[in-house]
Amino acid sequence: MEIRVYRNEKEIGEAAGKIICSLVNEKPDCVLGFATGASPVPVYEYLTEQYNEGKVSFKDITTFNLDEYCELPKNHKNSYYTFMQENLFGKIDVNPGKINFLDGNADEATESKRYARAIEESGGIDIQILGIGRNGHIAFNEPGAEFTDEAWKVTLTQSTIDANSKYFDDIPMPRHAMTMGIGSIMKSKKIILIATGHAKAEAVKNMINGPVTPLCPASILQQHKDVIIMLDEAAANLL
Ligand code: F6R
Repeated sequence: MEIRVYRNEKEIGEAAGKIICSLVNEKPDCVLGFATGASPVPVYEYLTEQYNEGKVSFKDITTFNLDEYCELPKNHKNSYYTFMQENLFGKIDVNPGKINFLDGNADEATESKRYARAIEESGGIDIQILGIGRNGHIAFNEPGAEFTDEAWKVTLTQSTIDANSKYFDDIPMPRHAMTMGIGSIMKSKKIILIATGHAKAEAVKNMINGPVTPLCPASILQQHKDVIIMLDEAAANLL
């Protein structure tokens, strides 16, 4: 694991964004794995800026997002599909036909196989962006008894509900989500995990210095051969 500490979120956005842009310029049809939530927003801002300045085009990339809520229509304002449209996809020249999302309302087993096959047929994810939950989750793989392989339907923990329910002002936050499994995430060729703020410090410590255990799902990243962990000073505080 390569640990890098930055002064602020903007610097993280630039650093991760530069890695992505240089891959896209070198391999225009690369496969990018995206996360939602607050952590990657500065990266998406940087990518949008570079696109607006004509320094990169995303027209041939394929994308896979990590997760999607169940019990929510795709176009609901709080769906992760809408989040990506608003924060990145609607602002760049990505081909809508090459954007891949889990369907939170589909049959779990069928959807899991479909997503695994789609990732494989794309040639595999070149760079996967991740955030980390306060409880150590990656994507929506919550702490549990074992690591999961492919996409599955998860019951969200209270910690995740507490962290994310602030975004739901009209309906209660869904209690379930479909998430890429740990096995699929680990197959990504390169992973960039972003964590900022004090609330993440404990999870970051467990991910990097703790044992590899499904009780802290992010700890599995210790076994990946190409992971960059990008932190601000607050998130790195307990290292
Ligand atoms: C989102 C996702 C989650 C978030 C995590 C951190 O697609 O997979 O694992 O990355 O919950 O969320 P933020 O960045 O909002 O603190």
